[in-house]
Amino acid sequence: MALILGIESSCDETAAALVTHDRRILAHRLAGQEAAHRPFGGVVPEIAARAHVEMAMPLVEAALADAGVTLADVDAIAATAGPGLIGGVMVGLMTGKALAHAAGKPLIAVNHLEGHALSPRLADPDLAFPYMLLLASGGHCQLLLVRGVGDYARLATTIDDAAGEAFDKTAKLLGLGFPGGPAVEAAARMGDPKAVPLPRPLLGTNEPHFSFAGLKSAVLRARDSGRYRAEDIAASFQQAVVDCLIDRTRRQLESHPHITALVVAGGVAANGPIRAALAELAGRQGVAFAAPPLWLCTDNGAMIAWAGAERFALGLTDDMAAPARARWPLDPTAEKARGAGVKA
Ligand code: KG4
Ligand code: ZN
Repeated sequence: MALILGIESSCDETAAALVTHDRRILAHRLAGQEAAHRPFGGVVPEIAARAHVEMAMPLVEAALADAGVTLADVDAIAATAGPGLIGGVMVGLMTGKALAHAAGKPLIAVNHLEGHALSPRLADPDLAFPYMLLLASGGHCQLLLVRGVGDYARLATTIDDAAGEAFDKTAKLLGLGFPGGPAVEAAARMGDPKAVPLPRPLLGTNEPHFSFAGLKSAVLRARDSGRYRAEDIAASFQQAVVDCLIDRTRRQLESHPHITALVVAGGVAANGPIRAALAELAGRQGVAFAAPPLWLCTDNGAMIAWAGAERFALGLTDDMAAPARARWPLDPTAEKARGAGVKA
């Protein structure tokens, strides 16, 4: 059974994992960089790239030791080749290329978004193509039809901020700390989701896309009004995000009646109320619901190894010229969404 080494370094997590094509996770190691970025309230690309340089090889070695294997036992080496912070992507991809070259193994240049998109299939052997995917992370918020490995149709994207970005900015505005998503979720548990009237951008419109920038501005105004507790703003913000995600996703499920499963992936999929609301929506629409376990939602090496395993099984390997890419859409045919800057 093919054994794949996966390396992830596209944002602020360095990770290495060993996964088999029959879904055994033999090892997964991860080094976060929260402490290094916390003083700046966000990820600093240069600090991230340097940390990846320090951590990539030790994590690979630790993962190999955990699994009790050597590079010679590995069938292919998968590394994130984008999209992401280019310095970090280059570090992970170069590490993968060097190992592949030294060990004489094939290289698989993995799209980080494909890692998220396929991660539910690592957790759930019964999840078959096609499925509808809500991919919500720090850099993306998209609805996609996942028709197969490497075969994606983008149905909707954000025209401004990503969902995770909105969580991170809200946390910063409310002084809840970094990383923002878990901090907002924790504060929201102690707040009233109805306390603060906040907008639901694009809700109920014919426009398929997402928008979160107006929500963030409304959070700023609510904070500056001095009328609300941070916990109430956090809870109301989270509820507004839930409402927008549900409205947009329901719209796509209704117009794609042949789709039988709704899947959520990406860091924002770690959010309890968002998972619960999507599960409920799936139930109402009569489709199955799948979400990876929490540790597999946020960036990790196992999802990259798994995407590598899926590609390797189809004979999809890459040569040493595979480039590191800051941008790399899953659906290259998708039109730029109105108002979208760099997020499509
Ligand atoms: O997928 P991911 O780990 O990295 C990217 O590829 O972006 O996603 C990170 C994003 C961050 O914006 C983070 O705040 C958000 O996911 N996130 C959450 C939660 N955990 C992580 N957002 C809401 N609730 C959470 N519990
Ligand atoms: Zn990610």
